[in-house]
Amino acid sequence: MTVHTTEDAAYRPAVRVCRLEDLPTVGAVAADVEGRIVALVRTEDGTVHCIDDQCTHANVSLSEGEVEGCAIECWLHGSRFDLRTGAPTCPPATVPVAVHHVIIDGDDVLVALTNDQN
Ligand code: FES
Repeated sequence: MTVHTTEDAAYRPAVRVCRLEDLPTVGAVAADVEGRIVALVRTEDGTVHCIDDQCTHANVSLSEGEVEGCAIECWLHGSRFDLRTGAPTCPPATVPVAVHHVIIDGDDVLVALTNDQN
């Protein structure tokens, strides 16, 4: 397994999670990264983001939501989260989701989990 380190102490060492081809062209999939369930999200511009998979409004998987621009919308009540910051941009959610660091290494997708537990 490839292990990368980040310069930022706010993140754990990066681990390989999947290959780029495992991700939808535009959309999200859930993944288990060291026991933490995350959503890997690829947007129209090809950027891959990683956030905690659970909506902060209730126990719903965000990876089952719709990706629009640089946001993902929870399918249950319509909360939207900015994939860059995790901030909710549309209610009812008011609490951000945690954002993890993504590294693309060739065809591999690596994630460095944030130490932030929110
Ligand atoms: S469970 Fe996600 S918005 Fe309500």
